[in-house]
Amino acid sequence: MLNHFFSVKDCPDTMGWIYEALKLKNNPYEYKGLGINKTLGLIFFNASLRTRLSTIKAAQNLGMETITFDVNKDGWQLETTHGGVMDGNHVEHIREAAAVMGGYCDILGVRAFPTFLSKREDYLEKYLRGFQEYAGVPIVNLESATLHPLQSFADLMTIEQHKKKKRPKVVMSWAPHIKALPQAVPNSFSQWMQYYDADFHIVHPKGMELDTKFTKNAKLSHNQDNAFKEADFIYVKNWSSYHNYGDIQKNRKEWMITLEKLQSTAQAKLMHCLPVRRNVVIADNAMDSQHSIIHDQAYNRVFATQLVLKKMLVS
Ligand code: CP
Repeated sequence: MLNHFFSVKDCPDTMGWIYEALKLKNNPYEYKGLGINKTLGLIFFNASLRTRLSTIKAAQNLGMETITFDVNKDGWQLETTHGGVMDGNHVEHIREAAAVMGGYCDILGVRAFPTFLSKREDYLEKYLRGFQEYAGVPIVNLESATLHPLQSFADLMTIEQHKKKKRPKVVMSWAPHIKALPQAVPNSFSQWMQYYDADFHIVHPKGMELDTKFTKNAKLSHNQDNAFKEADFIYVKNWSSYHNYGDIQKNRKEWMITLEKLQSTAQAKLMHCLPVRRNVVIADNAMDSQHSIIHDQAYNRVFATQLVLKKMLVS
């Protein structure tokens, strides 16, 4: 039985899970009875389209009920530090809130982005860890300050479905953006790629190095044209600086992904987790080209999540 799902480290057999999730995709209602009389609570501290809807759909495919709660819109502001005097804006402590939500639900999913106020605090994952400690039920990471494992799991399923050679060249490329975005998606993708047989490259401008705890033995470079040569998959993502925490690089339009750049690859498939700002991150001519498998990626989110929930439901 799966207790919590925070990262790839909670997945004991990455390839086995990929094959199992692809099997579920072919027969989504096979385990419809598994979740009867079980409730999945979805706790959002931040906005979401794909994660919210794909997780609800995944739960429905297993026969579960869902409760969705937007903490910042509908709930009390939560305190996470211990021993403080709560005489400010924080009305309720995570100890009580998580315990109460855990009482109403059999599994909880939590989305809590970084604040960018402090790298140390963000990388401590105080919301995820607080729910793990006090909810008393399994916790699913719906994108935390540092990781987005359900996205990465779906990404690997998508590569497995589309690859034409045993060991494809996969390039994760930084692309421009107008605001500071988390490192969660690139951290997580890098981490999952360590468990997948591929020639994995990361290309980004100088200053945008990720935490080596996640990139490990990926091939790192700063020249996009060179990195794209012979690539089978281009995974596009913006992230803000890890070392100069939250810093962004403005006016880097030369890093935007275009159809011309994709044509310099080995007919690479184009990937992005969405949402994407068109003509900032990826040009229209690339987004709308035959290279894109972005919609498949989003669709696979349902079955990656369904497998994780299934593993939590089976005793
Ligand atoms: N990719 C992804 O997690 O999308 P949402 O932020 O819309 O959930």
